[in-house]
Amino acid sequence: MKIVMLGAPGAGKGTQAKKIAEKYSIPHISTGDIFRANIKAGTQLGVKARSYMDKGELVPDEVTIGMLIDRIHEQDCKKGFILDGFPRNIPQAESLDKVLKEISEKIDFAIDVDVPDENIIKRMSGRRACLNCGATYHVSFNPPKKEDICDGCSHELVLRDDDKPETVKKRLEVYHEHTKPLIDYYKKAGILRTVDGTKDMDKVFADIISILGDK
Ligand code: AP5
Ligand code: ZN
Repeated sequence: MKIVMLGAPGAGKGTQAKKIAEKYSIPHISTGDIFRANIKAGTQLGVKARSYMDKGELVPDEVTIGMLIDRIHEQDCKKGFILDGFPRNIPQAESLDKVLKEISEKIDFAIDVDVPDENIIKRMSGRRACLNCGATYHVSFNPPKKEDICDGCSHELVLRDDDKPETVKKRLEVYHEHTKPLIDYYKKAGILRTVDGTKDMDKVFADIISILGDK
């Protein structure tokens, strides 16, 4: 199964994508996580990506598309994958379709996690991230067992650099201008499914499972 997650920053794409990946035993590919891993490792890609991410802008397509395409050609993607944070504009979606077509494949579902902008700021300011293993928490909606410590790997949890309110505002603008048009793109392709992302996490997950089927 090949799935694309759509939704505003903070809609819960990452939260749901991790659960879906586990349930269907497919890799979870988050372009944001790949960039953050590169920033942490101090690679050239990381330095470049950071200059855009810190401003809430998109990393240029010439960097992002090639990186994603290399990743989906890896062996573990043969059985399917879930993309979280890619595509983020029409050219990225078109490149993805083209590459899949070349190997006679296609995206099966685009799941839009729908959350109004008003809820987003609240979610982002409460999010705490583990930059070591990629786990995500929320101080009130999904707190770690021990305050500011990752349940999985015991590293300290932090507020992401791009979760400051002024950067979140910019990310939302970028979302509306560049990413939201993908809803129509996938609707036209007949594979768009929308879930109400304001429900609690388990309900959102149950709604997604009812769309994807229980294995
Ligand atoms: P990326 O890391 O992809 O960030 P994003 O899309 O803005 O999404 P987030 O990770 O912020 O949110 P999410 O929807 O995954 O929400 P989460 O599950 O964490 O990208 C970061 C940057 O990298 C971009 O700005 C860009 O610069 C660059 N980039 C990445 N991909 C790119 C691309 N393809 N092209 C160009 N540039 C790219 O949930 C949020 C919070 O809410 C958490 O605290 C969570 O616990 C909580 N929560 C989740 N679900 C619920 C619920 N149902 N109820 C209550 N709380 C909930
Ligand atoms: Zn961790």
